[in-house]
Amino acid sequence: MEKEFEKICHNAAANPGDILGKMLPLIKRHQHKHKKKLPVIWIETNDSGDNNISFMNSTFPYLGDIFQNIIDLLYSNTFMAAQGEDAVKLLDITARKYSGEYTLVVEGAIPLRDNGLYTVIFRTRKGSITALDAVTQLGQRAKYVVAAGTCASFGGPSAARPNITGSTSVQNVLQRKVINVSGCPVNPDWLMGTLAHLLLFGFPDLDELGRPTLFYEFTVHRHCQRRSYFDRNDLAESLGDIECMFSQGCVGPKTGADCPYRQWDNYVNWPVKANTPCIGCTNPDFPDGSTPFFTPMPQKGGEGIVDENTDMTQPKEGTGND
Ligand code: SF4
Ligand code: F3S
Repeated sequence: MEKEFEKICHNAAANPGDILGKMLPLIKRHQHKHKKKLPVIWIETNDSGDNNISFMNSTFPYLGDIFQNIIDLLYSNTFMAAQGEDAVKLLDITARKYSGEYTLVVEGAIPLRDNGLYTVIFRTRKGSITALDAVTQLGQRAKYVVAAGTCASFGGPSAARPNITGSTSVQNVLQRKVINVSGCPVNPDWLMGTLAHLLLFGFPDLDELGRPTLFYEFTVHRHCQRRSYFDRNDLAESLGDIECMFSQGCVGPKTGADCPYRQWDNYVNWPVKANTPCIGCTNPDFPDGSTPFFTPMPQKGGEGIVDENTDMTQPKEGTGND
């Protein structure tokens, strides 16, 4: 069944309309047997809110299907109606009731400077609860911890130079295994697929950066539609040209993500197809390692290349057989 699930996730990009039809029966079979969805507490910390907006853009399955069949969203400041003290109480009661069972989804980095004062999740009569307090406490009682987006996974833009809030990743705060589902924002399939995997089979296989290999195993470069131009050393002279954008600062060769075939916005487009280079938004060194944007990678140091089949210091005549 796990292999079947992985195949559905891989094929999803090619046949998006099929995902719901194929995945839901697996999930319903699971529910029939176990009678439950994945209990989730979702905390937003230091980020731009882009990840939950992206998640709401889930298409196959739609958000309603995800809530109905895959996750039981117990707390989320974005999706729930409760506010103020009711919300605080709800979080407290929920975290106790589902202790050891819930999945903690953290969206955003965690500021450490001045005891985490720069991101306050909420205030109570007893004082402020910072992102650092909330993630530390909720993380200890969670069954799984999922970092949604690059800020939560690696610090991301929130920890970019000069990082005056001392922001860092969830992994750096918690002494336990964290599943990093990076991206700026995270692709809805990556997050939904990871949560569905946790419900059905537990931990997915992770790469050395703690990301599910299901979505991050190959580089953007490997499946890019402009790869044949790269292999012929046929490079764009300016943005908008049809050739490979390595010359325009594309960091697809060092970026693990399935964007070229999964795509975004209801599976219709992705950066290179939209005539802009991949800026490496899933990478641990994003954005500092990708800047200045639109500058060729060798001039940025060219470090961290993960596509073992290609010398990324410069394009060359290649066999194109990978
Ligand atoms: Fe595509 Fe960028 Fe690789 Fe060129 S360098 S083939 S544009 S991913
Ligand atoms: Fe991000 Fe590059 Fe995909 S910028 S969205 S990983 S093509």
